[in-house]
Amino acid sequence: MGFFHLFLLSLFTLLSFSSSVSVGGEEGAKFCPKNSCQLVLNFYKESCPQAEEIIRTQVKLLYKQHKNTAFSWLRNIFHDCAVQSCDASLLLDSTRRSVSEKEMDRSFGMRNFKYIETIKEAVERECPGVVSCADILVLSARDAIVEIGGPFIPLKTGRRDGRKSRAPLLEQYLPDHNESILSVLDKFSAIGIDTPGVVALLGSHSVGRTHCTKLVHRLYPEVDPNFNPDHVPHMLKKCPDPVPNPKAVQYVRNDRGTPMKLDNNYYRNILDDKGLLQVDHDLAHDRRTRPIVKQMAKNQNYFFREFARALQILSENNPLTGDKGEIRKRCNVANKRRV
Ligand code: HEM
Ligand SMILES: *[C@@H]1O[C@H](CO)[C@@H](O)[C@H](O)[C@H]1NC(C)=O
Repeated sequence: MGFFHLFLLSLFTLLSFSSSVSVGGEEGAKFCPKNSCQLVLNFYKESCPQAEEIIRTQVKLLYKQHKNTAFSWLRNIFHDCAVQSCDASLLLDSTRRSVSEKEMDRSFGMRNFKYIETIKEAVERECPGVVSCADILVLSARDAIVEIGGPFIPLKTGRRDGRKSRAPLLEQYLPDHNESILSVLDKFSAIGIDTPGVVALLGSHSVGRTHCTKLVHRLYPEVDPNFNPDHVPHMLKKCPDPVPNPKAVQYVRNDRGTPMKLDNNYYRNILDDKGLLQVDHDLAHDRRTRPIVKQMAKNQNYFFREFARALQILSENNPLTGDKGEIRKRCNVANKRRV
């Protein structure tokens, strides 16, 4: 080998070495935040070519039977990915050693977890042990968004499943229903989502429901004067008890106008002081977010564009890749350790 070839070879080694360093290391953080470069579109193209189709079919079937499964898949992506990593830790049941994220107050009202297993079982029948629950969680959200009238948002795959509940961290990472907008913006900005992105993601509250337990503090002992008075009788009718039985299924639909559609009606509602949660109300009144709320109320395409961008970032938050984590056999339990 001549000198020149050797020179080229070492140059090449140097380049590939430095680029591989920048993938995982601190240095590359701005190019490849927290492992996200390991994710690709259609990761299972060779290992399980039917995976995405199977998931889409199941999401559609389940949606036909229970429309609210779509709301659950959308909420899942927030509750899993915003807590340190999109690793399906959310889906793990409690064990003797740890409490499930699903049991925590931040997860109040989350539902349909058994149907994630239905999707996983359908995928396992075709490709056992190949497709992670973390990817199923993300792809089911992507497909659910389409079912409820939202945009198709290409989302990458290649995540692996975590082995541990992150329940002790939930309060630190997931904002509460009455948290200040400043603190909400801080929490999202820590995972790379900017203010328009946050405003767009909260547009998810255009579908689904809010239980009375999360509302009564705005109704009793006095009705919050910030509520639109036209909206109050409906809420009082749905939530007649100042201290609702937490087990009772008493709730109000988030968007009375188009409760089953992901659309920008949410923004018109909150500008109209019909937002149910304190954060929904505040989003329309905080000086940082109000101008964006107004734009999204007028322009559904702008809402969808920002929503897609933010959901992509959320879905790529610090995944487990390579030899980290595992591919769970069932989504609600970590695999038994081989000895
Ligand atoms: C500041 C951030 C957020 C807070 C404090 C918050 C809080 C809540 C609360 C308290 C509920 C009502 C649960 C119940 O009573 O059943 C809810 C419902 C919901 N949230 Fe959020 N949320 C936030 C952001 C998000 C994001 C980013 C998404 C999605 C990307 C999302 C999706 C949903 C959906 C779809 C529902 C309806 C669920 C159903 O009907 O089953 N939320 N949220
Ligand atoms: C928020 O609501 C919870 C009850 O859900 C309450 O315990 C807490 O004190 C409230 N926080 C603020 C800042 O009002």
